[in-house]
This record gives sequence, C-alpha cells and structure tokens, in this order.
Amino acid sequence: MIHSILKMGDARLLRKAEPITQFDTPQLHELVADLFETMQYANGAGLAAPQIGVNLQLVIFGFKNNSRYPDAPTVPETVLLNPVLTPLADTIEEAWEGCLSVPGMRGLVPRWSKLRYEGFDQFGNPICREVDGFHARVVQHECDHLNGVLYPMRITDLSQFGFTEVLFPELDPADDD
Ligand code: NI
Repeated sequence: MIHSILKMGDARLLRKAEPITQFDTPQLHELVADLFETMQYANGAGLAAPQIGVNLQLVIFGFKNNSRYPDAPTVPETVLLNPVLTPLADTIEEAWEGCLSVPGMRGLVPRWSKLRYEGFDQFGNPICREVDGFHARVVQHECDHLNGVLYPMRITDLSQFGFTEVLFPELDPADDD
C-alpha cells in the first residue's frame, strides 16, 4: 500500500524511533513492502518508517538509476533495522541532498565520508557493511530520520539551501520533490 509521506513541520518527524524487537513477522513484512511501494512511487533513494508515521527503527534505501540523483552510483537495495553507525574516517564531505519530507528543496549537507553500519534485515539476519561516498551519505540521511533529524538541520551554510527547480533546472520537474 502506498502511504502519504509526512512533511517537515509534522511533529511525528521529530521523534526518536523505537527499536524493533520482533523480526520476521507478517506486520513487519507488510511494513517493508509498503515502504518500498511508497519509495518507488515517490521515486526516492531511501525512506524511513517515521516518514510514513511509523515510529520504528527501520529504513530502506537503494536504487540502480534514480532520476532525482542522475549522477549517483548504484546503491544495493537494503532493509536496515535498529542501525548503528560508526564513522571510519575524520573526513567530512559536503554534497547536495533532498528529502521526500522536504519536497522541492535541496541543500548542501556535511556527512562522514566513510562509515560502518550495522543492524538487521527484516528476517533478523545481521548486516555489517563498510561504505563511502553516496552510499554512506544515504545511510546517514535515512538513519537521521530515526533520531528526528531532517537534513536542513545539518546544513551549515544556509545560502546553500534552495529550490530544486532553481538550483538544478536540468532535473525533471516531475521529480521535483
Ligand atoms: Ni529524508
């Protein structure tokens, strides 16, 4: 089922999400399916459960080609529960981000350049990966949603925050979310 995505200003996006204690349940599989359906419908690169009003530590991300981020490398389709992120370098990189909860906008956001993420998939299998670049950025963005953090809160220079249609006129306006 496709859900509506909460937008910035909704207090439900500012909560700390609860850990998931039971894996491989019908309810959990339905939630994962709904998140993928909603993300694909919105043409997103990732989606966190709190964005559809479900206050659980569950994020999904991944894509081959994404028209919202035409230059981004492929990120494997991933379901990540109860994630823990550990930076693996002191290096911070800035790059442009958008968010389905902040439609029509992009901002330049500093993120760790390299990190390890650990957690579980929906079946309870452990996940542990070391990643960098856009993959690392997507994970940090999605996991921020589990702590009530939206990317505009991380922008250090607000002159680098604006409307997608102005900043990136080459992008398809249909993806202007
Ligand atoms: Ni987001």
